[in-house]
Amino acid sequence: MSTAERGGEPLRPTLLIARDRSALAGSAADWIAEHIAATVAEHGSCAIALAGGTTPAAAYARLARAAVPWSAVRVYFGDERAVPPDDPASNYHMARETLLRHVPIPRTGIHRMEAESEDPDEAARRYEAVLPDRLDLLLLGVGADGHTASLFPGAPALEETHRHVVPADSPAPPVRRLTITPPVIAAARRVAVLVAGAAKAMAVARALEGALDPREVPAQLARGGTWLLDAEAASLLQKVPA
Ligand code: 6PG
Repeated sequence: MSTAERGGEPLRPTLLIARDRSALAGSAADWIAEHIAATVAEHGSCAIALAGGTTPAAAYARLARAAVPWSAVRVYFGDERAVPPDDPASNYHMARETLLRHVPIPRTGIHRMEAESEDPDEAARRYEAVLPDRLDLLLLGVGADGHTASLFPGAPALEETHRHVVPADSPAPPVRRLTITPPVIAAARRVAVLVAGAAKAMAVARALEGALDPREVPAQLARGGTWLLDAEAASLLQKVPA
């Protein structure tokens, strides 16, 4: 069952809309920091999976300056490209340069996806073994085609109901990836989707208000989450709270 619906009822997203990309970076960082701190206060630790791509970079840089109990945080990734960790195209590289190298998270608390492995399936199974059954906080982005993590429209991984991490191919380079699967999104205690820019407005509208078909619009798997948007990314939504 996706987080687009539970018990057959379509879930409603929570929308937090910032006036522009810069304001979104700040409000998203504040939101993430607040939920990490609340989770640590309640459970003693927080398992967070970071989104990749470029949108989160500014929010991660602001998050690095926030008051967060980092020693109690364990960091995972929603997906990774099959490139070395020092490659600018690596999601780990982006997170390390903007956030991870600037905060006191124990190195043992950072779990990189080794998507560059010569045996992607074995690397996926290795990652699955360290990924918690339920993430406390899952951060996702959305592509203009409606993908999220490395779950692309029509991908076989969208039909996966048992495995939590699988190899995947992207239509855009870097092609080879590892990605979490729909069960991981559905099981996450809290999902936040960070999207900015007019180029994503149609994808956001399809994800949140389009006919429910996550095989065509994988970002619908997060429809019941909190959507952290700038005004441009939200500009085609019909049901925006006043
Ligand atoms: C990836 C991401 C992917 C990303 C979207 C948006 O590895 O590319 O995990 O899901 O979040 O493609 O990317 P941008 O933020 O760069 O637009």
